[in-house]
Amino acid sequence: MTRGTIRPDIEIVALAPEDAPAIAAVLADAFREDPAFKLIFANTARGKDLHYHRFMEAWVAHAMEEGNPLFGVRVDDDLAAVVGIAGLDGQAPQWSVRRNLVRFLKIVPGMRLRKALAMAAATRRPADLPNRVAEISMLAVRTNYQGRGLAAALLGHAHGVVVAASSQSHVYLYTTSPSANLFYAKQGYKLVAERQVESAAVFHLLRPCDADTSL
Ligand SMILES: CC(C)(COP(=O)(O)OP(=O)(O)OC[C@H]1O[C@@H](n2cnc3c(N)ncnc32)[C@H](O)[C@@H]1OP(=O)(O)O)[C@@H](O)C(=O)NCCC(=O)NCCS
Repeated sequence: MTRGTIRPDIEIVALAPEDAPAIAAVLADAFREDPAFKLIFANTARGKDLHYHRFMEAWVAHAMEEGNPLFGVRVDDDLAAVVGIAGLDGQAPQWSVRRNLVRFLKIVPGMRLRKALAMAAATRRPADLPNRVAEISMLAVRTNYQGRGLAAALLGHAHGVVVAASSQSHVYLYTTSPSANLFYAKQGYKLVAERQVESAAVFHLLRPCDADTSL
């Protein structure tokens, strides 16, 4: 297990395959009220979220299979926050439907399929991004641990990993959480595209690796 520290009181750990169920639980908790997930899943409410939860498990399994590094913060042995990085080698992350077919079939009964397809199209990377971009994904903090600086610390760590890999000029991410925009603006991200799917929006954000966030 690799360890690093951004703030002395926040210890960041590299996550491993055995952490997958805990990572999925963090994602399910953090995104339950996200407009995009509420649009595409019939139910995201705790206890009625079987298909939504399975989606989170599939997302994590896919990230692990792709070899995307995942980092987390534990508080009192609880996984409180996670972040993933894709495309460190300069490749755009691929979500292969064929490879994930069995997982998808388990999720589909709880999905509004037409809305899900529209959302998938809206999350596609803008065509005019710089060539050398890494992608930050699944930044999430359990609701009861939000507001303690965990996301800022994890994102700072992820930026450090991207810079250390030294093959990218920018970091890209998208979010479907309107309130997260302000958070990302504070971390040096600028909006490069916005796409609307009914009541949900997808914000595509970009940050140069050397962005100055000291202001
Ligand atoms: C968005 C999210 C990751 C922020 O996590 P967090 O640990 O609460 O954030 P931090 O405590 O590190 O906040 C860092 C700074 O951003 C600000 N901030 C955090 N969330 C904010 C929000 N929703 N709106 C405005 N500002 C916000 C904080 O006030 C803080 O500002 P400061 O440095 O001036 O004190 C968390 O709310 C979350 O998991 N939300 C659900 C999932 C999600 O939207 N993920 C991101 C999109 S993929």
